[in-house]
Parts: sequence; structure tokens; C-alpha cells
Amino acid sequence: MLEIKDLTKYYGKFTALNNLNLHINKGEIFGFVGPNGAGKTTAMKIITGLLSQDSGKVYVDGYEVKTNSKEIKKKIGYMPDFFGVYDNLKAIEYMEFFASIYGIEGKEAREISLRLIDLVNLSDHTD
Ligand SMILES: Nc1ncnc2c1ncn2[C@@H]1O[C@H](COP(=O)(O)OP(=O)(O)OP(=O)(O)O)[C@@H](O)[C@H]1O
Ligand SMILES: [Mg+2]
Repeated sequence: MLEIKDLTKYYGKFTALNNLNLHINKGEIFGFVGPNGAGKTTAMKIITGLLSQDSGKVYVDGYEVKTNSKEIKKKIGYMPDFFGVYDNLKAIEYMEFFASIYGIEGKEAREISLRLIDLVNLSDHTD
């Protein structure tokens, strides 16, 4: 569940978000579209806890983002259109890197990563 209430963000004197309100229910698939410069990335950064708002509240699964940044990060999955972190990692290393972000390390991270690579039939590309 995502709840956004009166979200406002300024970059200096420029208003990037002006009282944005949004409610997305559990299980709902939502396409967040708008013209260039509409404030989509700004909103996403605030939702994910990477940027602070000037006013308004954001709740992910009932957690207020500003005060529960760590919990929120565990709940959010993000698939970029390109791998922007490290170019020289093997597939398995990349997955273990992401596992570590979620607090999963060592043997457990290896097992989960191998299982997921297998799930999507990419075991041939593990290394
Ligand atoms: N760090 C910043 N400093 C100043 N202005 C910014 C900054 N980031 C974004 N802006 C401005 O805020 C507005 C919203 O930008 P934002 O990147 O959130 O839009 P967007 O909807 O993601 O656009 P696009 O479709 O091009 O990705 C734009 O006018 C942009 O120029
Ligand atoms: Mg953007």
C-alpha cells in the first residue's frame, strides 16, 4: 500500500511537487506517467527515502518513509532499465550484492541467488 498526502518539494524557489496526493492499494498495478519535468523522479526519490520532502507525508505499507527509511528500503524492489552500479560483476555477484542490501549475507545469499537464477532459467549465466 502506498499513501501520499500533500507532498511538496522545492528545489530552491522552484516548486517540483505541489501537494501531490496518491493512494495505491495492495496488489494494484499503477503506471506513473507524466510529461518531462512533471516531478516523477522527484516523487520516486522521496518515496524510496533518497530525498527529503519539504512538506507532506508518504506511507509505504503503513510506515512513514521519513522516519522508517531502513524498513521502507527492504520493502521496495526496483528494476532499472540499465545496471547502473558495477559493470564488472558476475551475475551471481550482482545478486549477492543486492541480497546484502536486504541484510542477507553469506551462505543464505548464495543459496537464494542460485535458486532465483535457476527460477528464470539463467543458471548457464551464473558466472
Ligand atoms: N536537483 C535538482 N535541482 C533543481 N531542479 C531540479 C532538480 N531535480 C529536478 N529538478 C527540476 O524539477 C522538475 C521535476 O524534475 P523530475 O526529474 O522529478 O521530473 P520527471 O517527471 O522525472 O521528468 P522526466 O520525465 O524528464 O524524467 C524539473 O523541472 C527539473 O528540472
Ligand atoms: Mg524522471
